[in-house]
Amino acid sequence: MFDKDKKIIYSGIQPSGEFTIGNYFGAIKNWVALQHEYNCIYNLADLHTITVPQEPAALRRRTVECMAMLIASGINPENSLIFLQSHVAAHSQLCWLLNCFTYMGELSRMTQFKDKSSRQGANIRVGLYDYPVLMAADILLYQSDIVPVGDDQRQHLELARDIAIRFNAQYSPTFKVPEGYFGEKGARIMSLADPNKKMSKSDENKNAFILMKDNKDVIISKFKKAVTDCDSEIRYDIKQKPGISNLLEIYSCSRSISIKEAEADFCGKSYAQFKLAVGESVADALAPIQSEFERLVKEKSYINSIFCSHAQTASNIAARTLSKTMRKIGFYQLEKQ
Ligand code: TYM
Repeated sequence: MFDKDKKIIYSGIQPSGEFTIGNYFGAIKNWVALQHEYNCIYNLADLHTITVPQEPAALRRRTVECMAMLIASGINPENSLIFLQSHVAAHSQLCWLLNCFTYMGELSRMTQFKDKSSRQGANIRVGLYDYPVLMAADILLYQSDIVPVGDDQRQHLELARDIAIRFNAQYSPTFKVPEGYFGEKGARIMSLADPNKKMSKSDENKNAFILMKDNKDVIISKFKKAVTDCDSEIRYDIKQKPGISNLLEIYSCSRSISIKEAEADFCGKSYAQFKLAVGESVADALAPIQSEFERLVKEKSYINSIFCSHAQTASNIAARTLSKTMRKIGFYQLEKQ
């Protein structure tokens, strides 16, 4: 499947809900584009989802739907590896090893942990705290060169690099130290209800996010309600005009044009005309993905065959790094009899 002269791309996404256009423009769209130039490994990070409570039947259903959505978006299982994290035991195993090379201070500084734990109150799960180490294990297992993610994962990626550098220095080169890849635009799609906050599927306000599965009417109605400002000028200025800038960014992502070109399209137009056009451009970009999704999600045996074969390939790759890591630490390796 892989060309040994190409670099390795690795990234993951949680099947913890339906994907938003933040997931799509910030990550999935880049993943699709990168497939031609790199050996790509993409992962549905289901182990990460249980850092917060999950309903078992819903998790199972969403896992299949998320796989169908990734393929419908253009991830090609013929060229890229795409599998479920829980199907490859090495992720949890390497996570444990790396826990012993990670400091409490590092994990306590993670802004996503601080943010999520402050919202959870008492009985915060250790898994939520340890989440970035599992993510480091994901990345380092595959000797990844490049990790395409949205801006919110920047700190987690830095930690993965720090752990790799630390381990390599203590033993000898074992893990490749990966670089982040952030799209020129779309790396931080903001909430439609509060443009100072990241768009997130877990937002209580359903008008704050657009799901990849939302139909055209819903998309347009959510954009109509999007928070802007009391001015009337459509220009990109994150500090002064965060709402308008976010909409311009979304429009430029959905049309694959620059922000400058997006601004030019709305010279002299009203906010109402602008919001409608953004909604229509997003609905147009998602329409072919949605119809392919509807077809694929019914093909359970096809989805299952991808899960099976890709988990096997991923396990073989991951086993090499895991065994090398264990050997370096000093675990006794079984000799073949
Ligand atoms: P997750 O599932 O929260 O998000 C998946 C990807 O979508 C990006 N993203 C966004 N980008 C722009 N604007 C937004 N509003 C937005 N919301 C989400 C995220 O940055 C991410 O790239 N821990 C990861 C999953 C993961 C992973 C990995 C990623 C597990 N193992 C290894 C990279 C490498 C997560 O929870 O992403």
